[in-house]
Amino acid sequence: MNIHVSKNKRKRSKLTEQKDVIQEKSAERSYQCCGSESKRQDTTSTEFDTTKETQIRKDIREQYGKIASGDYASSKEQELDNTSCCGDQESYTDYSKEELENIPEGANLGLGSGNPIRLADIQLGETVVDLGSGAGIDCFLAAKMTGETGKVIGIDMTSQMIDKARTNAERDGYHNVEFRLGEIEHMPISDNSVDLIVSNCVINLSVDKSQVFTEAFRILKPGGRVVVSDIMLQHEFPDAVKRALADSPGCVSRAWVTEEYLGAIKNAGFENVELLESQHIKPQKRVTEELDSGNKKHIVMVSGKKIEVELSPEEDERLQNTVMKAHVRAYKPPA
Ligand SMILES: C[S@@+](CC[C@H](N)C(=O)[O-])C[C@H]1O[C@@H](n2cnc3c(N)ncnc32)[C@H](O)[C@@H]1O
Repeated sequence: MNIHVSKNKRKRSKLTEQKDVIQEKSAERSYQCCGSESKRQDTTSTEFDTTKETQIRKDIREQYGKIASGDYASSKEQELDNTSCCGDQESYTDYSKEELENIPEGANLGLGSGNPIRLADIQLGETVVDLGSGAGIDCFLAAKMTGETGKVIGIDMTSQMIDKARTNAERDGYHNVEFRLGEIEHMPISDNSVDLIVSNCVINLSVDKSQVFTEAFRILKPGGRVVVSDIMLQHEFPDAVKRALADSPGCVSRAWVTEEYLGAIKNAGFENVELLESQHIKPQKRVTEELDSGNKKHIVMVSGKKIEVELSPEEDERLQNTVMKAHVRAYKPPA
């Protein structure tokens, strides 16, 4: 499909930019100590330290900004083998050849942990929201299923990702897809307006996951559903690994144990919360030293971060079965 950029469209782009600035400013304001009453309650009701929370968010934004601009692999401070949460993407991709051939070039940055679209049973005419849409891969797949009578909205807090996704949509002539700059903890979407929420490897990064599910509940129509692919933990990491990953912006280091994740969805008001599929992701690692105690020193690659840890044989075994990629589905109760 070819796209003709009319005067009206350019005007709309300008308006979209202005809207983005307003959204970005209001998101920042909500983390200041003197934000609006409701936001202040939100932040004090969590156990997060606001400064730390803001820093983590900044790091995440910076990291994905670099990925969107193609600067990440060459960035000196990164010791990365890849940018994915799931190790070698080739072996973890959940998309079919056909799906990958029918999306705009550059929409797949290999950042997902699964394929929520495959399990979402999208119908013609539905309104779909993708949380943390990146360069737009799942939005474009969903848009083919909703058709022109439906609509897909991608939300992402990284402006470079939004720019990339909008360019992809314009170049390939997607008229039923829109990308909005915003945080998934404060979704720029009105109440009770959405049939389906999808998300792919994003909620694990959030500094306030419970707030994300509360927001998801707010924007869904009664009877609406959420289908997400995400990184979860079967159990906590061994202490040494936990310490080494503290405050890292990576998706695995911020992931929750499955029960906690499903519990937060239920607490937000959802019903029929179901773990649809899950698969362990073994971390890449190599032994650097065998100690007299029987412990071994390892270099482990977790969430794109290289850490050095000493592990007992039990901890090593436990580490192998800690990280999972999983798909979850839940419903907002009907009216
Ligand atoms: C691992 S990437 C996944 C991108 C996309 N879902 C995909 O599968 O390619 C995470 C994306 O979520 C965005 N993101 C992370 N935390 C966010 C938040 N709190 N609010 C909005 N977007 C966020 C990042 O900017 C990034 O584009």
